[in-house]
Amino acid sequence: MIGTVLVTGGAGYIGSHACAALMEAGYQVVVLDNLCNSSLVSLERVGEICATSPIFVQGDVRDRDCLDKIFHAHTITAVLHFAGLKAVGESVDFPLEYYDNNVVSSLVLLAAMQQAGVTNIVFSSSATVYGDPPSVPIREDFGLCPTSPYGRSKLMVEDILADWHVANPNWSVCRLRYFNPVGAHPSGLIGEDPQGFPNNLMPFVAQVAVGEREKLFVFGDDYATADGTGVRDYIHVMDLVEGHVVALEYICRQPGLHTINLGTGNGVSVLDMVKAFEHASGQSVPYEIVKRRPGDIAACWADPRLAETLLQWTASRSLAEMCEDAWRWQQGNPRGYA
Ligand code: NAD
Ligand code: UD1
Repeated sequence: MIGTVLVTGGAGYIGSHACAALMEAGYQVVVLDNLCNSSLVSLERVGEICATSPIFVQGDVRDRDCLDKIFHAHTITAVLHFAGLKAVGESVDFPLEYYDNNVVSSLVLLAAMQQAGVTNIVFSSSATVYGDPPSVPIREDFGLCPTSPYGRSKLMVEDILADWHVANPNWSVCRLRYFNPVGAHPSGLIGEDPQGFPNNLMPFVAQVAVGEREKLFVFGDDYATADGTGVRDYIHVMDLVEGHVVALEYICRQPGLHTINLGTGNGVSVLDMVKAFEHASGQSVPYEIVKRRPGDIAACWADPRLAETLLQWTASRSLAEMCEDAWRWQQGNPRGYA
């Protein structure tokens, strides 16, 4: 299905990589982003990678007029809905902002899509909807129990999409549950650009390696894991966005409600990540063990078999590639896009 895709949140970390992957696959792309957590430079860089830039509209997904104008001006065949707020700790302090931004935007988007007759949507959900799983690897049919307003906002949108699909069975709805996206485009031109103190492991490690920060704080070494540190399923952002392109093609052939994990199926500890990054960068990453971060779980990794069966997609890039690509981006852009 080649056509024009609306990418909400397309200037952000995952969205900008998705724009590049879509355009490389032959799609035209319209981005809607209010730039609350991103820079337009990301899309200029996508233009350098793909020789042409996506069409950019600065606006808020909650702004119905703005959406109507986009659907009127372009023949949109599908929407990739990345726009949202994503910081777990911040969501605890500002829950209304999270519910408003993440849930209301999705309601407004669905209504505008319905009016425009656009019936294909891929939604960015998160492994955070599983909460603390009873076992690993995590399958899509596991119970859902998010532990933060951020996670609950993702689950609310998942539920809204399911209800919407019952009422509109001709729609194609895909809920993709990402594990831990890391890394950057191999060009080093686009990557993750956290504002202020990075919450997530990989950008923190990268900032220590490049000398922006003195050391990594490892949140606990007394978990029931091989080395005592937390274990996660890190997935290269290029694998993740290629998963979106195939998911889009799949849902356009197969109307339905689809819920799919995007992960590698491999568990990597914090100390494994430190070692891999040191190897990729040739820099040392000093660290200090500190107490556990409240709300963290010991181990979380995907059962990725459903994606393989339905989409014929598996993540192919190694932990070494994730670190090498993150390092290339970090070295070339030590202060991000600023
Ligand atoms: P990001 O913050 O880099 O990108 C989100 C983009 O959405 C930003 O460009 C921001 O300006 C934009 N935005 C936010 N609210 C908006 C609104 N109301 N209207 C228009 N634009 C708006 O985040 P990301 O890491 O690229 O994440 C993309 C999506 O994937 C999010 O929905 C996030 O919750 C989800 N997700 C991310 C991760 C992760 O680790 N990065 C993991 C699981 C799920
Ligand atoms: C975080 C979010 C989760 C989101 C996911 C993917 C929290 C509580 N959870 O999860 O909702 O879906 O990102 O983006 O924020 N670590 C350190 N030092 C650091 C940073 C992290 O030791 O400075 C450890 C953590 O304890 C964890 C691992 O590194 O064991 C990964 O942490 P992080 O990158 O924040 O991802 P998640 O905890 O999986």
